[in-house]
Amino acid sequence: MKKGKIVAGCLAPHPPHLVYAENPPQNEPRAECGWETLRWAYERLRKSLSQIEYDVLVVHSPHWRTQIGTHFLGLPHFKSLSVDPVFPNLFRYHYDLNVDVELSKAIHDEAKAAGMQTSMMTNKDFRIDYGTIISCHLTNPSWNKPIVAISSNGGARYFNMDVMQASMFELGQATKRAIEKSGRRAVLLSSNSLSHRHFVTEGELPEDMSREHINNHNQYLWDMKMIDLMKKGQARELAETITDFTEQAVAETDGGSLSWMLSAMDFPTVQAEVHGYGTVIGTGNAVVEWRL
Ligand SMILES: [Fe+2]
Repeated sequence: MKKGKIVAGCLAPHPPHLVYAENPPQNEPRAECGWETLRWAYERLRKSLSQIEYDVLVVHSPHWRTQIGTHFLGLPHFKSLSVDPVFPNLFRYHYDLNVDVELSKAIHDEAKAAGMQTSMMTNKDFRIDYGTIISCHLTNPSWNKPIVAISSNGGARYFNMDVMQASMFELGQATKRAIEKSGRRAVLLSSNSLSHRHFVTEGELPEDMSREHINNHNQYLWDMKMIDLMKKGQARELAETITDFTEQAVAETDGGSLSWMLSAMDFPTVQAEVHGYGTVIGTGNAVVEWRL
């Protein structure tokens, strides 16, 4: 069997607003427009990924939160309706997706062998979280490739942020080993925003862009600091800064998705391509690609 490889890793945030504004047939609500800088950033990411061959999207999501340990989708097919609990007015999405169960189980086994608590999700009625769905949809709206979905856990709350991040570094290494043994060419998705302080009220028209801006300047400075490290190829420094960033900017890196991905990519020194940055209800979001 040929040796597998992580061919790219992408920071792929999941604001439901972006799917809402795209008006895909799977989503019930209709929008006029909105959040173009980020939607065009995803367009650039899709164009870039269309130039490489890959077999599977492997996504780690802050919204599949297993309180203890790491879970993996363990059935080949899931189909249902996903409703965002905070924005049911924006996201009621009919999903129908395929899972690369063989690779999912291989990552599970590799993580388990490394001493991590793991479980395969084999409930056919399990509802896939909107973080997984949105990141995968915006990266590959045709859904013509299978996915592997990995849960995040509550380690940051039960222990502390450093403990959780360290365990996600381990999970990243297990993911890398499993992909290499599998023969797959994989694209990784870290499904999260950067700074995550958001507004608590919504306008009459959600896509009214005259209301959209970063929540506060401190958040913006933190986002720019992290993006600068990405652009300079300083993934190791990024990983070392991630606990402070997460706590100071209330960042959505609190699920460990970005730590998992940076570690799986062996903290690459390649300069990341920032396809775009924009805010959604005041949160900072970047679409970023590491081509390995
Ligand atoms: Fe989120």
